Amino acid sequence: MSEVDLSAHIPEVKLITDLRDIKAANLHWNSKVILGDCLKVLKQMPEGIVDLIVTSPPYADSRKKTYGGITPDKYVAWFLPISQELKRVLKPGGTFILNIKEKVVNGQRHNYVIKLILEMQNQGWLWTEEYIWHKKNSFPGKWSNRFRDSWERCIQFNKEQDIEEEVPDDWEHCIQFNKQKKFNMYQESVMVPMGDWAKSRLKNLSDTDKKRDNSRVESGFGKNISNWLERKMAYPTNVLHLSTECGNKNHSAAFPKSLPSWFIKLFTEQGNTVLDPFLGSGTTCVAAKELGRNYIGIELQKEYCELAVANIEKAKLNLQLTTLTQSMSSKDQDKVNADYEAYYEYLIQHVLTPFYDKRLEKLSKLKLKSILKRKNPYLFKAKNIEFAQDFVKGIVDAFLSSQEETIFGNLLEEFAIYISEILYGGFKSKLNSVDLEFKRNGIYYIVGIKSGIYWGNSDQINRMKENFKKAKQTLRQQGVTDEIIAVNGCMYGKDRNPLKEDADSGKSYYKYAGQEFWNFISEDENLYQEIIVPIDQEAKNKDELFKNTYQAKVNEMTFEFMQYFMNNGQIDWVKLVNYVSKKGDVKLEPSPKQMMLDLEEETSDLEDTLDFADVLDSEEA
Ligand SMILES: C[S@@+](CC[C@H](N)C(=O)[O-])C[C@H]1O[C@@H](n2cnc3c(N)ncnc32)[C@H](O)[C@@H]1O
Repeated sequence: MSEVDLSAHIPEVKLITDLRDIKAANLHWNSKVILGDCLKVLKQMPEGIVDLIVTSPPYADSRKKTYGGITPDKYVAWFLPISQELKRVLKPGGTFILNIKEKVVNGQRHNYVIKLILEMQNQGWLWTEEYIWHKKNSFPGKWSNRFRDSWERCIQFNKEQDIEEEVPDDWEHCIQFNKQKKFNMYQESVMVPMGDWAKSRLKNLSDTDKKRDNSRVESGFGKNISNWLERKMAYPTNVLHLSTECGNKNHSAAFPKSLPSWFIKLFTEQGNTVLDPFLGSGTTCVAAKELGRNYIGIELQKEYCELAVANIEKAKLNLQLTTLTQSMSSKDQDKVNADYEAYYEYLIQHVLTPFYDKRLEKLSKLKLKSILKRKNPYLFKAKNIEFAQDFVKGIVDAFLSSQEETIFGNLLEEFAIYISEILYGGFKSKLNSVDLEFKRNGIYYIVGIKSGIYWGNSDQINRMKENFKKAKQTLRQQGVTDEIIAVNGCMYGKDRNPLKEDADSGKSYYKYAGQEFWNFISEDENLYQEIIVPIDQEAKNKDELFKNTYQAKVNEMTFEFMQYFMNNGQIDWVKLVNYVSKKGDVKLEPSPKQMMLDLEEETSDLEDTLDFADVLDSEEA
């Protein structure tokens, strides 16, 4: 049985404080945090069980106070026995990523990292690549002879292997491929969105450059770039722009999870094993766990070990939660999507379309003389309206908005009934004050639907309660044996105390508003937001026709208003009030003294003035 399979059957023992526990119980090394000196622990580990090592060892001297350190001069000698063991436990195709940075000693960068690389090469490691971790948000600072440190090395080592790449026929390429050693790498897993890179890159090449690249050197460079133009994803560079932010306040040198995550994705597959011999707060193991890899962490300090275990535990729980939600939601999502499609369709066909049709119809039939009598002239005077068009617009808008509220409210109410119908077999009720009846989970609901929460005064509310009580009695007589609950549903707004209790329990009811109402109707907390989408889309489609009709109507009515209610360019308020309120019949005559526009041309002082088009013409000439 493979290592991956084994770990699935063995209960996870996280913190190993005594290596004998692993051996005595014949436990697997995978998914363990081990307290101890990594050199000693590594020596106990079997050969070739690790696919990737990602680690950030204590930097020379730098954090002596928190977790000890090694002086720069002794660093190489200290590390080499550890790297020897790391090489032994690493699988042949595995990779070792060493996050390190040379310290400044006596005004210059110490050379222990360079020496270490050379010594590790002597040890049989290949120095395959070097990645730069650019710390996007490093602390600002300046020293007399250098700027703030904003990057660290992530050095890639691989094991020398006998297997070499196949040698192609082409001699030129031979040299390159001969040197390339084989190790596991999954480049596609770290691809990044292409953005506008290829386009701007190509724009910067002159045509001659492109031609030269294609013809003289035959590198195919121009051609290769154009290949990338249509692609959505590109391979990243070897500079990783990551913030130092790690959300881990309990370790002074934790790296961000995105750092090990990136290398884990690049060099391993699910089920592989990742080792961090200087585990600290457990970041590498957390990243491995989240990405479905096994992990082994070694840490010298007990408190960090415990911190690491806690962090991995947290990651594990999060993972379980995410998997659970994902599997639940993916199952439910299909049904929700199908429901939403039906809702969208309904909203467009049966709410938005008739709403706009009815609005248009009302608008087209609007007559100045009839709406004048419905609106309060004193109010418009109190608002100091002086222009005929403002007045007409004001009364048209006021008329429309009172109509719209009713039309839209009724249509949306039908939508709520439709949802209840398709989900629970609900139907439109004939009982007084009740619009909808449906049964769910053994409860029979009677629902009176209103637009907003302030829909009625106390008399109206009392009437509704009376009617709810009577409705319950009627339903009992009709043979409904389930518990009956009355609900006043409001399509928008909120109500913090939904239960409205009455001394007479038959009159008690629930008031659900806004999100709670739509959730009550559909058991979907998001429905109240979702219905905005089709409303928004369809309104954009239909609004133009409405706007045109509206403008024409306002212009037409303004013209009519001016004929009857304007005197010497002023609104004749007395005539208006008489028309609306004077007892008896008031015969409406056009105003005698109407100011007429004189459209006859006169010779103007401005006749020599050039208009803008003339200016352009003369400039072109
Ligand atoms: C730079 S920190 C690693 C931080 C880690 N990458 C993280 O994200 O939390 C180095 C860690 O190595 C631990 N350490 C130092 N010497 C060790 C040794 N010989 N064996 C195991 N751990 C050691 C230190 O206690 C420290 O927590």
